[in-house]
Amino acid sequence: MLKAITRQISRSVTKCELTHVSREPIDLERARRQHRELERCLVDLGCDLTSLPEEPDLPDAVFVEDPVVVLDEIAVLALPGAPSRRPEVTSLADALAPFRELTSITEPGTLDGGDVLRLGRTLFVGRSTRTNDAAIDQLTSLVSPLEYTVVQVTVTGCLHLKSAVTQVGEETLLINRKWVDPGAFAKLHLIEVDPAEPRAANALCVGDSVIFPKRFERTRERLEKHNIDVCTVAASELAKAEGGITCCALVFESQAR
Ligand code: GLY
Repeated sequence: MLKAITRQISRSVTKCELTHVSREPIDLERARRQHRELERCLVDLGCDLTSLPEEPDLPDAVFVEDPVVVLDEIAVLALPGAPSRRPEVTSLADALAPFRELTSITEPGTLDGGDVLRLGRTLFVGRSTRTNDAAIDQLTSLVSPLEYTVVQVTVTGCLHLKSAVTQVGEETLLINRKWVDPGAFAKLHLIEVDPAEPRAANALCVGDSVIFPKRFERTRERLEKHNIDVCTVAASELAKAEGGITCCALVFESQAR
């Protein structure tokens, strides 16, 4: 069974980290309604959902994808690139401990889970403003014995690798080629975002479906033309916090340890 972990939006989300977007007012109540819509969608797609309580003083804590990388065998506790986000790791570690053996990235490494795109036994890892070479080396050492291959990819113009490219099918990726070199993904089938929707490359694959933001209608049409089952959700408020759909959920096979 698939397990999904989310976290309620912090009341301090308006003080979130921002790198590539300008600060705009965030309507907290609207953001929370949209987040509940995402949670309903995860349940409708068959996930057993754990919705963790708000971390009132950690503005970005809703973005549970970044402090940890969950694989089939282990969970790697990241050391988020933004120091304000490092305290987010502790309670997520508690939530994951029943499911996975925990390991950690340590200084001088910094890693955000949003920079790790897993396809089967390959981990594409974005070198970004948040994720550095030391962390990529550590991650490689941790996962090589488990027979994962790590492929390093440079990300420019956006926050995370998964702002630029995400999985939308077994061997299919949705990509904005302006933010990541598609060369690393040459063996995969690539669907490009509509040029008018550069932020549309972030989709969350759950089973045979994809959760996708309502506002990117042109890119959604491209996905549907490829016979991809798309569940749309409103996600405009957390987009102002520079968060996408994948950022808001950890989804993994739930076998307990
Ligand atoms: N606001 C999301 C991040 O910068 O990590």
